[in-house]
Amino acid sequence: MLQLNLLTKLAAQLSGEIVSRNRKKFDFKGNNMTEDRTAIVTGGGQGIGRTIILDLASKGVNVVAADINLDGVNQVSSEAEGLGVRAMALQVDISDAESVQAMVNAVSDEFDRVDYLVNNAGITRDSLLVRMDDEAWQAVIDVNLTGAYLCSKAVVRLMMKKRFGRIVNISSVVAVMGNAGQTNYAASKAGMIGFTKSLAREVAPRNITVNVVAPGFIQTAMTDALGEKAREDLVALIPSQRLGTPEDVAASVGFLLSDEASYITGQVLHVNGGMYM
Ligand SMILES: NC(=O)c1ccc[n+]([C@@H]2O[C@H](COP(=O)([O-])OP(=O)(O)OC[C@H]3O[C@@H](n4cnc5c(N)ncnc54)[C@H](O)[C@@H]3O)[C@@H](O)[C@H]2O)c1
Repeated sequence: MLQLNLLTKLAAQLSGEIVSRNRKKFDFKGNNMTEDRTAIVTGGGQGIGRTIILDLASKGVNVVAADINLDGVNQVSSEAEGLGVRAMALQVDISDAESVQAMVNAVSDEFDRVDYLVNNAGITRDSLLVRMDDEAWQAVIDVNLTGAYLCSKAVVRLMMKKRFGRIVNISSVVAVMGNAGQTNYAASKAGMIGFTKSLAREVAPRNITVNVVAPGFIQTAMTDALGEKAREDLVALIPSQRLGTPEDVAASVGFLLSDEASYITGQVLHVNGGMYM
């Protein structure tokens, strides 16, 4: 793990790769997001993070895809560039403070601003508590909760200087319902909610909002791997009678980042088809 941290640190410091320098002005009218704004999305290399990045890029927002998996962010940055915005791909370990600071320095050097942060990167290491090893507990807390803390702390200083910012933390329905086999994951995602509400109170006077999007079960590689029966059992728990899509989550994130949401802070937006009300 130490070796991996050093490698990713080095990669973020030395080869923050700028995929696009396309400065074309984008005539964006849809969600009233001012052109030239810049978003960092962690865990942007695949799944929900990838969809959030492409949604923001389609609205004219410059995007930084940050992920421990460099191949994924290179790919999504190229796709974002194709939508006419500037895009940057960075290999970052969000659980490592130096790696996170190197990411924010690289973004600040290139764009001179961070308007939006989406703390999306997350991992699971499921096990019943009696069988859980300490490493599985700590790894999930380090990435999901400490990662959101480190990224928020590193960008909030820039946002305070500009007197503008939006942070959205991706939690989970499990944070409020609990789930057997996920004490570590649920604790990390519930921690994000308390973190969000406290930070929202600290930074609201500076025109910075901090909110949570809490997805239910979303159709991703993880749920694709479930068997037919397991998927049917899952869907039976959801009043909307379907799994969510990454687009459902991205739309909620886009709303909370938009100018229309400027008076919404410290809130949890549940995106779960009615599974938890
Ligand atoms: N898929 C669901 O059903 C679901 C439901 C509720 C909440 N969520 C949450 O939504 C977020 C995205 O989920 P997903 O399904 O797209 O997951 P995913 O596993 O497809 O993507 C997560 C991304 O995070 C990256 N990542 C992992 N550790 C990292 C680290 N230390 N530093 C930087 N990047 C790291 C991974 O490389 C990956 O690209 C997660 O926080 C997850 O907990 C997902």
